[in-house]
Amino acid sequence: MKILKNYKELSSTVADIVEAQIKEQSKLVLPTGSTPLGLYDELVKRKLDWSLVLTFNLDEYLMNIDHPYSYHSYMKKNLFDRTNIYPNNCHFPFRPTLSFEDKMIKGRGIDLCILGIGSNGHIAFNEPGSTFDSRTRVVDLSLQTLQDNSRFFDSVEDVPKQAITMGLGTIMESKKIVLMVNGTNKLTILNVAMNGEVTEKVPASILQKHNNVEVYYCD
Ligand code: PGA
Repeated sequence: MKILKNYKELSSTVADIVEAQIKEQSKLVLPTGSTPLGLYDELVKRKLDWSLVLTFNLDEYLMNIDHPYSYHSYMKKNLFDRTNIYPNNCHFPFRPTLSFEDKMIKGRGIDLCILGIGSNGHIAFNEPGSTFDSRTRVVDLSLQTLQDNSRFFDSVEDVPKQAITMGLGTIMESKKIVLMVNGTNKLTILNVAMNGEVTEKVPASILQKHNNVEVYYCD
């Protein structure tokens, strides 16, 4: 794990990794949430050429995708509408999930997957108990996640109760994985995930089994 000085350095360090991949015209898996906001700002500032890049978001709520709080809207606002990426090259998990996974895996597969970690150890919306071989599917969100994500909505009741997420098995097929973690409130779960038992009770612990994972943390 690399500990960085501050959020700015976390964002620019991961932006360097993404930029190196963009030059190679690759397939990227991208997260939402608070943690990657600085990364997306930094990438926009660099005025990169996204015209040949394909992106795949980790997850999306089961809700109207045009809703301002959907992850489609989040990505448009924070990254896609601020770059020259082709909208048709931006993918979100959809049903039938097999077609979505075909699109991801076809050709060279996923080169780089950027992840965050939830306070309950989830990655994407793979909540505790998700099987290590899980694929893209519809899931029920845990109470913890509903509470954590209520800060993006008007109230906890407004948070969609279900989502469609890449599975743990899907994520693990990425050639390289970068886990971004920001804030002391994530330290305990990060430590459990990275150094504790590899168990489906802590979904992020599966990352211990991947041979090309980098973890970046700042307070
Ligand atoms: P956050 O979310 O970046 O908003 O903390 C991380 C996650 O739940 O995966």
